[in-house]
Amino acid sequence: MRFLYYSLFRLVLRLRCAIHDQIGPAAPLPPALFRYRVSESLSVPVFLLIGERCAQLISTHLGPQLHSDCQVLDFGCGCGRTLRWLLPAYPDVHFHGLDVDPEAITWCQANFSAASFSIDPPASKFDAIYCLSVFTHLDEAAQDHCLAMLHGLLKPNGVLLFTVHGPNATRNLRPAQQKELQSTGFLHLTSTKLRGIVPPNYHTTWHTQCYVATRLAPLFPRVEYHPVVDGVQDVVLAYKSTPAESQTPS
Ligand SMILES: C[S@@+](CC[C@H](N)C(=O)[O-])C[C@H]1O[C@@H](n2cnc3c(N)ncnc32)[C@H](O)[C@@H]1O
Repeated sequence: MRFLYYSLFRLVLRLRCAIHDQIGPAAPLPPALFRYRVSESLSVPVFLLIGERCAQLISTHLGPQLHSDCQVLDFGCGCGRTLRWLLPAYPDVHFHGLDVDPEAITWCQANFSAASFSIDPPASKFDAIYCLSVFTHLDEAAQDHCLAMLHGLLKPNGVLLFTVHGPNATRNLRPAQQKELQSTGFLHLTSTKLRGIVPPNYHTTWHTQCYVATRLAPLFPRVEYHPVVDGVQDVVLAYKSTPAESQTPS
């Protein structure tokens, strides 16, 4: 029954995407399916509003790092929902977008000439890396692999920002799921609902604050957890060096 429902859901979603692309505003908006992959909504205002809020969040937490000529990586950039706001706001910053979704990257390459994009990690090192709504989807093995890789891509004084589902996002979990999250600090739930719409390893993940601190400690000597009031996702900042070490030039 669920298989039938999900198959029908995906078919109707693809039809709605096609209709939205016909009647929606002209480019440079990404196609509706690309927007759906990052927003789980076909609404253009929702796509733009979330992107603008994400860009504000980056400005708030990474503002001091966004200086002229610095290198910034948007890891899991999707179709550039956040970059479309950051590129005009920080014209002197070098942004690079990375995603496993080749269609989104091809679209970004065609539509954002001010940034570079790839599906593979670039050779350069970064002053700052941000991952918005990426670790909220990965299983633990993929998360740990990405964390080690991103650590290696940071300059010695670099900072990593990523988001995790905060307490507001745990309200709809069942008691058994709440229990697992509290006892292990990590919960990853899989679903076939969006099979073929999003990448195959893309599901939903929750972390506790304690888990985040413990998991990052071997790699990052300084970790800050910033609850976002009324937000579904909280912000984690992980610094590659201690404040004393970052006094020395990188
Ligand atoms: C919810 S979307 C968020 C996209 C973008 N950060 C934003 O806020 O609009 C999650 C993105 O992470 C990407 N992603 C998932 N696993 C990844 C990985 N291992 N490496 C790079 N990107 C990944 C997905 O393809 C998807 O574009």
